[in-house]
Amino acid sequence: MRDALLIALPKGRLFDVTLDLFGRAGIETDRAEISSRKLTFPDRQGLYEFVALKPADVPIYVESGAVDAGIVGSDVLREFDCDLYEPLDLRIGVCTLVVAAPAGVTLTGQQHLRVATKYPRTATRFFAERNAHAHIVRLEGSVEIAPLLGLADVIVDLVETGRTLRENGLEPVEQVARISAKLVVNRTAMKTRNAAVRTLIASLDTVVYEDS
Ligand code: PRP
Repeated sequence: MRDALLIALPKGRLFDVTLDLFGRAGIETDRAEISSRKLTFPDRQGLYEFVALKPADVPIYVESGAVDAGIVGSDVLREFDCDLYEPLDLRIGVCTLVVAAPAGVTLTGQQHLRVATKYPRTATRFFAERNAHAHIVRLEGSVEIAPLLGLADVIVDLVETGRTLRENGLEPVEQVARISAKLVVNRTAMKTRNAAVRTLIASLDTVVYEDS
């Protein structure tokens, strides 16, 4: 059996903050080794092997056991609804998933709202719970442009600083969820790699809560 615990990391907005958090937890990586082409790299002690993935692919890799554990935003977890252990909220990548609309536009009473989003299942559930008719337009990114170009009436997307909304003439109208990054662990690995998983959780746990 391989020794190093395999951990999926999300490329994109969470990647650097995750490596910073691991570094503070004493799990150090050689940044020079991490290039956009090489998708796996170890920590300096050889306890962990990291795999850089598209965020949306992290849950399936962890659920299937292709990797032992992963770091992923709760936005992605809500959307894909996989069977995973979620032992730790890492308190990084904190943001909000919102419904946002063009400033000044009133949506109340509007039939068949067109909703542009990277989160079709989450958005479908959100509007269904409110008995609102929503036509979901699934996009891969740059969602904020959709209302401006007439593709959708509103968007469901992440807001961190609020800058992207502001610069595209949108404003939040409702909160869907508070979002942060989580450590997720494969259910079998939780048993077969228990000692290694517990070491990982303990290392991260100390830095996650050190500021509070
Ligand atoms: C995310 C998100 C918003 C933006 C929010 O997009 O989907 O577009 O960041 O950040 P802000 O509130 O600080 O402006 P990302 O950068 O991941 O790119 P994408 O639009 O291609 O998904």
